[in-house]
Amino acid sequence: MPNLRVNFAGLELRNPLVVASAGITETVERMKRYEEEGAAAVVMKSYFEEKICRKAPTPRFKIIRHGSGRFQTFAFYSYEQASEWDLKRYAREVEKAKAKLNIKIIPSINCVSKKGWLTAAKTLEKAGADAIELNTSCPHGSITFSGGAVEQNIVDTVRPVRDAVSLPLIAKISPMLTDPFALVKALEETGMDGVTIFNRQTGLDIDVEEEAPVMHRAYAGFGGPWAIHYPLRWISQIRPQTSLDIAGSGGVWNAEDVVKYLLAGADVVQVCTAIYLRGYGLIRKLLDGLAKFMTEKGYGSVDDFKGNAVPKILTTEQVDRRKRFAAEITPACNACGLCARLCTYDAIKRAGKRYTVVATRCVGCGFCVEICPNSAITLVSRRRRK
Ligand SMILES: Cc1cc2nc3c(=O)[nH]c(=O)nc-3n(C[C@H](O)[C@H](O)[C@H](O)COP(=O)(O)O)c2cc1C
Repeated sequence: MPNLRVNFAGLELRNPLVVASAGITETVERMKRYEEEGAAAVVMKSYFEEKICRKAPTPRFKIIRHGSGRFQTFAFYSYEQASEWDLKRYAREVEKAKAKLNIKIIPSINCVSKKGWLTAAKTLEKAGADAIELNTSCPHGSITFSGGAVEQNIVDTVRPVRDAVSLPLIAKISPMLTDPFALVKALEETGMDGVTIFNRQTGLDIDVEEEAPVMHRAYAGFGGPWAIHYPLRWISQIRPQTSLDIAGSGGVWNAEDVVKYLLAGADVVQVCTAIYLRGYGLIRKLLDGLAKFMTEKGYGSVDDFKGNAVPKILTTEQVDRRKRFAAEITPACNACGLCARLCTYDAIKRAGKRYTVVATRCVGCGFCVEICPNSAITLVSRRRRK
């Protein structure tokens, strides 16, 4: 069994799996499930200073399916803003969690006044929190951190919190920024210990019959497995240039996704939507899958492969642009003709009962390989083809 232990923002963790802030981490009872399933830490559902956010509307969840046939995706669309508790009650839950659980307990806060941030941070430090996540990125209705000066606003907000408490602080940032890298560098200077990259985005879906926003007629948070690529990109870019520890967050669906975040340079990986949709038992599957990957690759610790993909990312100038491949249709083709209909280059023609590639037209883009319903097309080396 490989050693999964990691260090994140000064916390010794039994593995890199952290349950992200949401209703699934609101109470000790719910947090206990994650401890039992093997998670190393939980970020609690956010406490909000703004009282109105503590009462979530119903319904709160919608799974919006999109696309058709083989080309389908979904968005987990939700309006669930804050913990329903005031600070005193929230702090009691932190105390209870610390008394009953052994995993790391990380409360999350989102405030609207400087006094609110400082009071919340100091209260939760006193309650025994292992660290605090500063939620500067809530995607819902009242969007505290928005507008032209959003990044400066975030820095100005978290700096006094840093000065007020001594426990580890993790800033959770939004993907809706002009320059996540610049923000992380500025956060580093405030003395943060870690950064969570990213929260969800703010979105809108419209009921075309009603000609109005779905569910509760407001903007809402949305995400899903498809959301993984954007945080992976930024983490890989930021990792070599920051001393902050990074929690990767967004789009984790299976163990491979956990491995991807670590390969991109994240120190820990947060998971939320997949737990809502697949159940808390998923934690164990993610950990087993991570351990299996490490065993098969011969890695003794997470550090052995963390960030391994980063030096392999090429610049625009370095990308190999030679025309190396051409499509080839195999006998598995059932002559449905989809490739010929969709080929941008008009490079696939019917020849009797079969389809064939016109080599002079095929640029080797690989699109037909991706869309063939029968997996009957492959890319071969142009040299071999000649
Ligand atoms: C229903 C729901 C509620 C959430 N509530 C919070 C919250 O209170 N505080 C917070 O910082 N993030 C919140 N998030 C964001 C998650 O913690 C996480 O960062 C985000 O969903 C991306 O990860 P995922 O793709 O694994 O869901 C919430 C997400 C969902 C789906």
